[in-house]
Amino acid sequence: MSVAQLWWVFFAVSTVVYVLVIGALVLAIRHARRSETSGELRPADRRRLMVGSAMAATVVVLLCLLASDFVMGHRLFARRDDPDALHLKVTAHQFWWQLEYEDADPSRRLITANEIHVPVGRRIEVSLQTQDVIHSFWLPNIAGKKDLIPGITNNASFIVERPGRYEGQCAEYCGYQHAQMRTVLRAVSPEEFERWKSAQLQPAVQPTTVEQRGGQAVFMSASCALCHSIQGTNAGGTTGPDLTHLASRDMIAAGALRNTPRNLARWIRNPQQLKPGVNMPATALTPKDLDALVSYLSSLR
Ligand code: CUA
Repeated sequence: MSVAQLWWVFFAVSTVVYVLVIGALVLAIRHARRSETSGELRPADRRRLMVGSAMAATVVVLLCLLASDFVMGHRLFARRDDPDALHLKVTAHQFWWQLEYEDADPSRRLITANEIHVPVGRRIEVSLQTQDVIHSFWLPNIAGKKDLIPGITNNASFIVERPGRYEGQCAEYCGYQHAQMRTVLRAVSPEEFERWKSAQLQPAVQPTTVEQRGGQAVFMSASCALCHSIQGTNAGGTTGPDLTHLASRDMIAAGALRNTPRNLARWIRNPQQLKPGVNMPATALTPKDLDALVSYLSSLR
């Protein structure tokens, strides 16, 4: 809203300046024609005065526009003391987003990745940090871009008015897979949000079939558990996304692939082929172990 207002102010000022400049140009051409026939010129000090005042007016107008832009930017990203706000900590990694839903009650703190769920109509306070290089958090239909800078915590704040699915994209070149560093925000009713959060706070479901149990054993014994966490198991790695409820997400690899068993298998076997430059190494498994692992991961709803 305030961005739209600022845009209209810029538009009005630019229109006035444009009309004045064209008017002055027409007058100058007429005057030049007249002085050509009569042979007289304007005095030098008058010309100097006109050019000088035009330059001064330009500087004043540009300074006013700069000030209004600065004030609007400050208002847009200022932290508001809304006691009802939802606090979300976003940590950028090459090339995915870690999301932490903060809560005064530590048992209700939730860690997930890439897919943001928020309730509509409630203020969302986002604190932005990065693990490695500069990234930029950007949900084009919701709020402006905000950089995540090493060693600094930046803030963003917004309210989503309408339920729906909103795409997001890292907006600062951060390396080879910058373009495949996506996020999606799902705005739902407050009740639905609480249901989602309660489900996400549950530890991972236990494997029920022989294949899923085998897959869990593969996960723990291969290198997976060194980088990924699954709550309720011994896997506690923090280098990669938390996988406790992996199957509840639509996409894997930060929006690069749909979350299907086939894509999971391709991704585990050779991530570098699908997203070259990503930090996840290839995992060599027998076809049977790979099937079991995919079956287990697909059960983590
Ligand atoms: Cu992260 Cu571009």
